Amino acid sequence: MSIEAILGDHRIVPVLAFKSVDEALAVSRALVESGIVLLEITLRTPVALDCIRAVAAALPDARVGVGTIVDPAQVAAARGRSRVWCRQALRPDLAAAVRECDLPFLPGVATVSEALAARALGFRTLKFFPAHASGGASFLASLQDVLPDLGFCPTGGINQTNAGDYLRLGNVRAIGGSWMVRRDANGGIDLEQTRAAAEGLPHTTRVTDHCRRNCSSACITPRNSARPLSLPP
Ligand code: 3PG
Repeated sequence: MSIEAILGDHRIVPVLAFKSVDEALAVSRALVESGIVLLEITLRTPVALDCIRAVAAALPDARVGVGTIVDPAQVAAARGRSRVWCRQALRPDLAAAVRECDLPFLPGVATVSEALAARALGFRTLKFFPAHASGGASFLASLQDVLPDLGFCPTGGINQTNAGDYLRLGNVRAIGGSWMVRRDANGGIDLEQTRAAAEGLPHTTRVTDHCRRNCSSACITPRNSARPLSLPP
């Protein structure tokens, strides 16, 4: 399946780092029940691969992605997990590894040169990381007319306040970040807070539902799309 098909109309990708499989299952279930089905589980904790396998098996609606891949060997390890996709920096050896494993891949770029390099390798939908530090929404806006065939999934420094700046852009397919899943002072994740943050986002095609619940006059139609989009306040 292509990365474009996996993203579909879904526009929010929580970037997750779990301490245990139980935590992964509880938080992922809360997110999926709140309408967020794209989940990036990062390889930043020792239990990450177990979490990916458990979430993919337990939640058939979830589209689980693997993040923070820094070594081609990690691609092979991710392959054994069902329904996963990869999301990481553009490195020729990583791109070759995901192609060999036939895994959908969202290569990461932070500059025009890197975007062109990814394009030359045949990729059309790219991760933009670290988004805020690399120019943010205005950088992506500058690329719309120059590289109109590229779509982006920015992450890094995105939050409730600036999410709309990205989602308004016609070349932004989805946005990612960790802001909707926060740890408290004790290191735990508050599931109710996670649900509340998730349900406040324009995350799915259920735009009508979202508008009915959350919006007053905050809905706009993004460039290049007839689909109305409701934005965070
Ligand atoms: C990522 O891997 O995409 C980032 O760590 C997410 O960045 P954020 O924590 O600033 O949202």
